[in-house]
Amino acid sequence: MATTPTQEGMTAAPPAIMVIFGAAGDLTKRKLVPALYHLCATGLLPERFAMVGVSREQMDTEHYRDLLQREAKKHLGEEFTEDLWNHLIERCYYLHGDFRDPDGYRRLADKLGELDQQCQTPGNYLFYLATPPSLFADITTQLTSVGLTREQDGRWRRVIIEKPFGRNLESARALNHKLHQILEESQIYRIDHYLGKETVQNIMAFRFTNGIIEPIWNHRYIDHVQITVAESLGVENRASYYEEAGALRDMVPNHLLAVLSIVAMEPPISFDADEVRGEQSKVLRAAQALTPEEVLTHTVRGQYGAGMLPTGERVPAYRDEPRIAPDSNTETYVALRMMIDSWRWAGVPFYLRTGKRLPGRFTEVVVEYRHAPSRLFRDSLVKRQNVEPNRMVLRIQPDEGISLGFNAKVPGQAPQLSAVEMDFNYSDHFGDKPSTGYETLIYDCMKGDATLFKRADTVEIAWALMEPILDVWNALPPRNFPNYAAGTWGPKEADELLARDGRKWKICKSCSE
Ligand code: BG6
Repeated sequence: MATTPTQEGMTAAPPAIMVIFGAAGDLTKRKLVPALYHLCATGLLPERFAMVGVSREQMDTEHYRDLLQREAKKHLGEEFTEDLWNHLIERCYYLHGDFRDPDGYRRLADKLGELDQQCQTPGNYLFYLATPPSLFADITTQLTSVGLTREQDGRWRRVIIEKPFGRNLESARALNHKLHQILEESQIYRIDHYLGKETVQNIMAFRFTNGIIEPIWNHRYIDHVQITVAESLGVENRASYYEEAGALRDMVPNHLLAVLSIVAMEPPISFDADEVRGEQSKVLRAAQALTPEEVLTHTVRGQYGAGMLPTGERVPAYRDEPRIAPDSNTETYVALRMMIDSWRWAGVPFYLRTGKRLPGRFTEVVVEYRHAPSRLFRDSLVKRQNVEPNRMVLRIQPDEGISLGFNAKVPGQAPQLSAVEMDFNYSDHFGDKPSTGYETLIYDCMKGDATLFKRADTVEIAWALMEPILDVWNALPPRNFPNYAAGTWGPKEADELLARDGRKWKICKSCSE
């Protein structure tokens, strides 16, 4: 039987106060507070800890605690236990304030000073900006102006910046520039919650700790790579954000390229933050920006029309969703083909796709190997085209695991092959570990480990790769939206994108069942 590693050797994060801007928002309720609860459950949250929620809503700490409790019960379900919850909630406080009002920051500074005394926290502060991006620079500047970002006498001050980090190269650069005027790079933690997913981190472990994987992880053996982030949800209640963002900005320069960089990076010489991030940045620098002509042939955008999900639920078209313009040209689907100009990846296409209202929710990386020569079978009934290529599938979510597809001889006298699979499921080996994906990131930030956060240059390189696509799409508004029905696999052009190269998207296992 497999043994489950414990959290042995892990120590609680150092005493600190976490301040969440956007304390009554969705992210705080659905992810951040449950993540703090999980950290508490595993003993990784320090005893000397406080959380201060800041938002514009008028309420006091007592009401805030009630609100968090109602939400926590909803999101934690059966995991919720009174004892653990009480331990956490008595460390949570609320401060209402307008994020643009300097007075609010003075009150925050006073509050933090008070809590430092009360909770014996030594002045270590983690500021989590779970706010609209237009406020990132302003909040950081105001924090600095009241001295809250000054590190001295061994106490640290760190700022976690949520996505989206800019909306194009220019704005990402401007934000980096602004932040660097007031903070050291070592104080800035640009979050991408995909890097907090265990299965994404495991890609590194899988590649770099198994001697049989790396030798065949290159253009000599790999035919192409597919990265899919499919969602069955629609735009939800995020119309104003999504209308401005669209699927490309929302998902590609951050989550998809984060996964791609881990799949494609060279082995770092250590797990030191700068070594790992240096390799990620290098591989993104080797990725080829598309020319305007290539944007026309190597990218596909789509928007969902009305349709039916596999559950039988009928859902409206994007343009009929609440607060969406009836003639909106915002894309809810994107697929693209990228090449990485490096020795390892020469000639290997990376196909990326993501979309809303697809038939299922799953994220996976498919590494498809080149065909074996098949000479042995040349005089038999087994034709080369009937032999499936080997595929390594890294299932990021929700059915977390890794599988390797290969061919086996069907028992009997006829020379017949069948595609079979070796399959590893996380839950079979390690059980189900509740996690929102934010636990590791919050913990790492408190420990000062930036490995899983984006560096300034990585964010800018990712946007630079998006620039030609944004420019061409902007200059040529789509004429065929909506071009896929909700509950289907996206526009037919996405299939054609691969078909032109003689390839096909692989349908995820759980979606084909
Ligand atoms: C967010 C996007 O960053 O990631 C959302 O803004 C998307 O549109 C979400 O739904 C997907 O995250 P996950 O963890 O559910 O795959």
